[in-house]
Amino acid sequence: MTDRIREATTDMDWEQATVLLRRIYVGGGHTTDEQAGRFMTRANLEPAGVLLVAMDETDTVVGAVLLLHPESPLRQVAAANEREFRVLGVDDRTRGNGIGERLVQACLDRAFAAGAQAMVLWTQPRMFGAHRLYERMGFQRAPERDVEDPRGFTRLVYVRGR
Ligand SMILES: CC(C)(COP(=O)(O)OP(=O)(O)OC[C@H]1O[C@@H](n2cnc3c(N)ncnc32)[C@H](O)[C@@H]1OP(=O)(O)O)[C@@H](O)C(=O)NCCC(=O)NCCS
Repeated sequence: MTDRIREATTDMDWEQATVLLRRIYVGGGHTTDEQAGRFMTRANLEPAGVLLVAMDETDTVVGAVLLLHPESPLRQVAAANEREFRVLGVDDRTRGNGIGERLVQACLDRAFAAGAQAMVLWTQPRMFGAHRLYERMGFQRAPERDVEDPRGFTRLVYVRGR
C-alpha cells in the first residue's frame, strides 16, 4: 500500500495527478467536466501552491492535494495568518487506507512549520467522507465564515488551529 507522499515535480506526476483529480471530482458529481478541465491543470495549480502527491508501490499517483502559498491567487477563505488547501482527492480504488489523512497531515505539518496559526478550507455539503475526515483530524466547522457558491450550494468552512 502507499505511504509515500512527496511534492509533484515531474511532467508525469502532474499529468497523473490532474487526470486523477478531474476523474474524482467529475465522477463524484462535484464539478462539471468543463470546470474541471479549466481548473485542474498544471498551468492553473502550479503557481498557486505546492501539489503533494501520494504514490503507490508502482510509483503511480493515487491521491493529491494542493497546499496553497500564503498569497495564492486561488486562496478563498484563508486570512493573513492562515493557510488553505484545495482539491484534496484520493483514487476511489484506494480509499479507506489513511491516504487522505496523510495528505491533510502533510499540509498541516508544512503550514505550521512555516508559522501559520491555522489551516482553513471549504468543502461542498455533499462531501460527507471529507467532513468525517476533517472532524476526525481536529478541524471544526466555522459556519460564520461559510460562503454561497455561485453554483447553488453553501461552501462549508472548516478551521484547525496549531
Ligand atoms: C475525502 C477523501 C480524500 C478521503 O480519502 P481516504 O484516503 O479514503 O481517507 P482516509 O482513508 O484517511 O479516511 C477515510 C476513511 O477510512 C478510514 N481509515 C483511515 N485509515 C484507515 C486504515 N488504515 N485502514 C482502514 N480504514 C482506514 C477512516 O476511518 C475513514 O473512515 P470514515 O470515512 O468512516 O470516517 C476521499 O474520500 C475523496 O477523494 N473524496 C472525493 C473528493 C472530496 O470530497 N474531497 C474533499 C474536498 S474538500
